[in-house]
Amino acid sequence: MNTLTIDIRKAEPRDADAIAEVHHEAWRGAYSGIIPHRALTTMINRRGGEWWANAIRRAATVLVIEIGGKIAGYATLGRNRARELKQQGEIYELYLRPECQGIGLGSRLFAAARQRLADHGLKGMVVWALEENDNALAFYSGAGGRDIAEGVEVFDHKALKKVAFVWE
Ligand SMILES: CC(C)(COP(=O)(O)OP(=O)(O)OC[C@H]1O[C@@H](n2cnc3c(N)ncnc32)[C@H](O)[C@@H]1OP(=O)(O)O)[C@@H](O)C(=O)NCCC(=O)NCCS
Repeated sequence: MNTLTIDIRKAEPRDADAIAEVHHEAWRGAYSGIIPHRALTTMINRRGGEWWANAIRRAATVLVIEIGGKIAGYATLGRNRARELKQQGEIYELYLRPECQGIGLGSRLFAAARQRLADHGLKGMVVWALEENDNALAFYSGAGGRDIAEGVEVFDHKALKKVAFVWE
């Protein structure tokens, strides 16, 4: 029997191309039919390997989850950006390759991201998800998040509602 090891660690610049690939596949999978095609393509194209290498080198914290040595997903995290919410930490993004979803990896990455924010001394955490992203809403409420705020994000003139989940 083969055993696949699962590892969660900080991303390094050499991971940039793999993360760009995960970003591309996960965003297409999650947002096709929700975010207008042109806006989605522009957002995906903007974030190639070089963009990610820069993000990793700069202050942003990028975590990756590897399974059997292959990057299956990533999370980005840091200080909460919404002044009206008192929680100090935020997971900005958490995405898995479509073929790696639904087998518990997202839960592990989520727990590691939350722990890392706590290790940085940030109290409480926020995650925003588009309201039409049913999987994300189920995932975050299943993980104990309380949805307490709404916002709007505009993509190519299409306004989409987003929901903030918080953990104390
Ligand atoms: C949302 C996402 C991060 C969840 O990670 P995951 O590894 O697929 O989820 P897990 O296997 O750890 O499942 C944890 C829980 O989430 C919920 N969940 C996950 N996928 C779900 C789905 N497709 N439908 C309904 N609930 C789902 C379940 O409640 C599950 O609980 P269970 O273990 O009791 O069944 C991942 O599916 C993903 O990357 N999706 C596409 C991108 C995305 O929407 N990211 C979030 C943007 S804000």
